[in-house]
Amino acid sequence: MNIPILDLKKEYTFLKNDITAQLKSCFKNQQWILGNKVEAFEKRAAKYLKVKYAVGVASGTDALILSLEALALKLRSKPQFSAKDEIITTPFTFLATAESIVRSGATPVFVDINPDTFNIDTLSIKKAITKNTVGIIPVHLYGQACEMDEISKIAKEYNLFVVEDAAQAFGAEYKNRKVGTFGNCGAFSFFPSKNLGAFGDAGLISTNDGRLSELLKMLRNHGQVRQYDASFIGHNSRLDAIQAAVLTAKLKYIDKFNTLRKKVAYEYDKVFSDVKEIEAPFSPDYNRHIYHLYTIKVASNRNKLLKHLNSAGVQARIYYPVPLYEMKAFKSAIFKKPYKGAEDALSKVISLPIYPFLAKGQIKHIIKSIVDFFA
Ligand SMILES: Cc1ncc(COP(=O)(O)O)c(C=O)c1O
Repeated sequence: MNIPILDLKKEYTFLKNDITAQLKSCFKNQQWILGNKVEAFEKRAAKYLKVKYAVGVASGTDALILSLEALALKLRSKPQFSAKDEIITTPFTFLATAESIVRSGATPVFVDINPDTFNIDTLSIKKAITKNTVGIIPVHLYGQACEMDEISKIAKEYNLFVVEDAAQAFGAEYKNRKVGTFGNCGAFSFFPSKNLGAFGDAGLISTNDGRLSELLKMLRNHGQVRQYDASFIGHNSRLDAIQAAVLTAKLKYIDKFNTLRKKVAYEYDKVFSDVKEIEAPFSPDYNRHIYHLYTIKVASNRNKLLKHLNSAGVQARIYYPVPLYEMKAFKSAIFKKPYKGAEDALSKVISLPIYPFLAKGQIKHIIKSIVDFFA
């Protein structure tokens, strides 16, 4: 048996008619960049998330960068922070999170994570705040919400902005509210491997702030306030109609797909709770985890287990093998050590294949391979 970490073919078969109908209307309209398709998708996404505005952009990375630049425009009247401005985030994430901070001119401050949820530790955020702190970027890692009550409270108390990195968590909830709707902005990625994936790069910013939404729309289109008239230096970061069409077709099924992911997670949980060497993912009752990734912790022999799984045809992976505080690219960041939680995760995590159309036989094979290893 060969089980890839992600297989989109069955999902495509299920969605084929919807996607084809959407694409056909693009071919008919011949409108490729922004336009009606993009606006219609933005409206649907805003309605689904229950926010006032949604702004489609070219990627999740750009969603983060443009969010920070829009906030800089609001706070500093220019689309860049300065190196003195500190933004607190997690070092246990995909590197785009901190890359966006550096791109916006600010300095990343890496604080530790909670080893149970893999998300940013709220106590560590509080300890890292200085007079130069301007904002926080919590990351809803693997599809699970951060502690948003506490983070919102800290942000309010210290007058900080919050940009939620919701790249892995479309449809995830914290206390019955969708992630990406708590902060000043929520940044989503529709990279094809994400739970809501486009047919290429794509992203979206959610916000309830009308001024931010206006600034974001200018920023994604060269800073233009009207055609051929730019107020500041922006980007070419527009969502295209083809991606909006595919995403519109998929958005209809996102709750169904997230539920199917949860069912796979449930099958894993049932067995792994009896395997003492494995810690199954922890999710508080008030979170709706959408399991973009199903990540277990293995107390010992993690790398041997990984090899064993790979040779059994199971493409398990380590997300993430290198923490951001070890990357040369972030050498000018501020490091709030120790990173006990992150180091624990780094040495123990393995992500298993999880997707809506993972077959029962495949799930069985993955579980059996793991149980056999420990037996
Ligand atoms: C946590 C996180 N942030 C940001 C990104 C960047 O998104 P994109 O690849 O769409 O630029 C990703 C996805 O790769 C991610 O996983």
